[in-house]
Amino acid sequence: MKKILIIGATGQIGSELTMTLRSIYGGQNVVAGYIIGAEPKGELLESGPAEVCDVTDAPAISEVVKKYGIDTIYNLAALLSVVAEGKPKLAWKIGIDGLWNVLEVARENGCAVFTPSSIGSFGPSTPHVMTPQDTIQRPRTMYGVTKVTTELLSDYYFLKYGVDTRAVRFPGVISNVTPPGGGTTDYAVDIYYYAVRGEKFTCPIKEGTLMDMIYMPDALKAAIDIMEADPSRLIHRNAFNIASMSFAPETIYASIKKYKPDFEMVYDVDPLKQSIADSWPDCMDDSCARNEWDWKPVYDLDGMTRDMLEKLPARILK
Ligand code: SER
Repeated sequence: MKKILIIGATGQIGSELTMTLRSIYGGQNVVAGYIIGAEPKGELLESGPAEVCDVTDAPAISEVVKKYGIDTIYNLAALLSVVAEGKPKLAWKIGIDGLWNVLEVARENGCAVFTPSSIGSFGPSTPHVMTPQDTIQRPRTMYGVTKVTTELLSDYYFLKYGVDTRAVRFPGVISNVTPPGGGTTDYAVDIYYYAVRGEKFTCPIKEGTLMDMIYMPDALKAAIDIMEADPSRLIHRNAFNIASMSFAPETIYASIKKYKPDFEMVYDVDPLKQSIADSWPDCMDDSCARNEWDWKPVYDLDGMTRDMLEKLPARILK
């Protein structure tokens, strides 16, 4: 029986991952770790245990792990790419000093660890089309620097200490529950909010800019499937390319227009976001994930658009 701790359980991915893991493993077996100021509410609070668990506080992580007999940690604490450019030291503190704390606690208590990497772990010198699993990773953002370090440190703990670390490189994650904050791919979430509210959307990313994206149900499936995978099949560990869909702003706009013909979009390019987007892959090759643990996404762009437009109004139109 798994006993899981999610660090960052009230964030963009954590809030939905916690609920999904509770539906699989039982509410009492999944602890929502949060920081003061980002307390769980509603279903997230009521469906299972919750504990203050700041990734920068090693004793707190250790205490929660021991108290609940945790065997698997999902470490989702991070600053996204744009925010991290403004607060590089904090991004390092959360992303790497925090990871160090998690890995040490995992080593002492025999826990498996999932700490996601990202398309942000690639940089301008990475091949952009069908980006291979093993390739050049020289990002120029602090977010990217922390993600490459995350991959290396996680692999190090596996090779040196046998800590069962595994992860995926997430594309931009799109969902209708908790909005992201301060990422480069956020436009692909924001656009649905504008469409549903019947407002014109100003896109900060230039026409023609391709990036990998994934719908939340597939992102959750990846995070769960990789931790359930047969370890004897894994050649790679930290972290697997996973691909689902790749599109540019005009393509997601066209997908929404099919269902909302009056929806309007204009461009006002944000230079920082654009330079980050330009340095990331157009589309990743995820054949290693497909071969080593049978990764297969469910949603394509139109399937995601239909689901977003169906679910979002109930959440945001009061
Ligand atoms: N969604 C993240 C960002 O845009 C990338 O992983 O920062």
